[in-house]
Amino acid sequence: MAEIKIGIIMNGVTGRMGTNQHFKRSMVAIIEQGGVDLGDGDVLMPDPILVGRNADKLKNLAETHNIERWTTDLESALDDPYNQIYFDSQTTTRRAEGIKRAIEKGKHIYCEKPTATTMEESLELARKAKEAGVKNGVVQDKLFLPGLMKLKRVIDSGFFGDILSVRMEFGYWVFEGDWQEGQRPSWNYRKEDGGGIIVDMFPHWRYVLDGLFGDVRSMTCHGETHIKERVDEKGKPYKATADDAAYATLVLDGGIVVQANSSWAVRVNRDDLLTIQVDGTEGSAVAGLRDCKVQHRVTTPKPVWNPDIENPFDFEDQWEDVPNNQLFDNGFKVQWEQFLKHVHRGDEFPWDLLEGAKGTQLSDLALQSWDERRWVDVPELKL
Ligand SMILES: NC(=O)c1ccc[n+]([C@@H]2O[C@H](COP(=O)([O-])OP(=O)(O)OC[C@H]3O[C@@H](n4cnc5c(N)ncnc54)[C@H](O)[C@@H]3O)[C@@H](O)[C@H]2O)c1
Repeated sequence: MAEIKIGIIMNGVTGRMGTNQHFKRSMVAIIEQGGVDLGDGDVLMPDPILVGRNADKLKNLAETHNIERWTTDLESALDDPYNQIYFDSQTTTRRAEGIKRAIEKGKHIYCEKPTATTMEESLELARKAKEAGVKNGVVQDKLFLPGLMKLKRVIDSGFFGDILSVRMEFGYWVFEGDWQEGQRPSWNYRKEDGGGIIVDMFPHWRYVLDGLFGDVRSMTCHGETHIKERVDEKGKPYKATADDAAYATLVLDGGIVVQANSSWAVRVNRDDLLTIQVDGTEGSAVAGLRDCKVQHRVTTPKPVWNPDIENPFDFEDQWEDVPNNQLFDNGFKVQWEQFLKHVHRGDEFPWDLLEGAKGTQLSDLALQSWDERRWVDVPELKL
């Protein structure tokens, strides 16, 4: 059995996503499980080098997880041919610059979404990667959520008949930061720093909708900044300049109508932080992060509108759970493993920088629709 090491530059690893999902739950977990089994007796072993500005934070993070390599000198990490992959989970505004530099140095690219703050810049990254012939991938973690994987199974079974509509309800209350600390970074609420729920969530909605139901063809979106002032990590009040809620309607290929509510100013009264209800001619489903329940036309109750009597139905109780039937690993880790195999052996990996650019296209168009108060078409994106 051969162990094949693969050097990975991890930039932005001290951040929320970088530390928790990409470093601890993906990289460290893969190393601790003994690498990525290639199925032919060989094993791919990631060898990360943690990159950032704060030496103490990097050293501490590396030492806690028995990782030897860290540096505050990104250029030297990029100059070292041992490092084949450049990974970026910095704040969104910094990503394009980092990726361009890494492409120039011939590194394969893997990064968080959104890949850049505008569609033009996202497309430019995809073009540059293609021209340089480097492999590239973008995090599309929601596709690997157990609830959405179960929903995909239901779709693939033909259960729905014709899918008519999709209702996506996403959000939770993000504390303002005054009497309780905010649970998201303050830059998320400043437009000038790349914040806003549209820029943050619409890249997810794009690959979720394209991947599960069909390509998005047109949309209308209305955004709001419901909470006007928040308090940052240092306890300093600041003006929220970015949207913290977005109310969108989208039409997909084949005419499926999607309503997508996204909000950081909503209190949860549903099964999960994200729920997706799908209604079809033959049946319906509601998926959350881990679970998915279904109701077939033959088990559909027949309510009659009558507010004069107590509601005789327990509607919630009339759904059936879709069983696990498989083991679900952390979605970020699963996608990392697939990307590593893609880089090393050329295994299929459909979620590249062009797919990432489609996400930014949708958020750009949502902002345009809001600004111009009208429906917009979503043209096919090509390199
Ligand atoms: N896939 C998902 O579900 C998901 C969820 C949340 C965030 N994200 C994306 O991940 C990225 C990071 O988000 P986060 O919530 O971890 O943010 P964060 O603020 O916690 O982390 C940002 C990282 O960028 C670094 N950074 C910031 N400014 C820098 C500078 N001037 N120079 C060098 N480094 C700098 C920080 O040190 C930190 O490591 C964002 O692009 C965000 O859109 C993705």
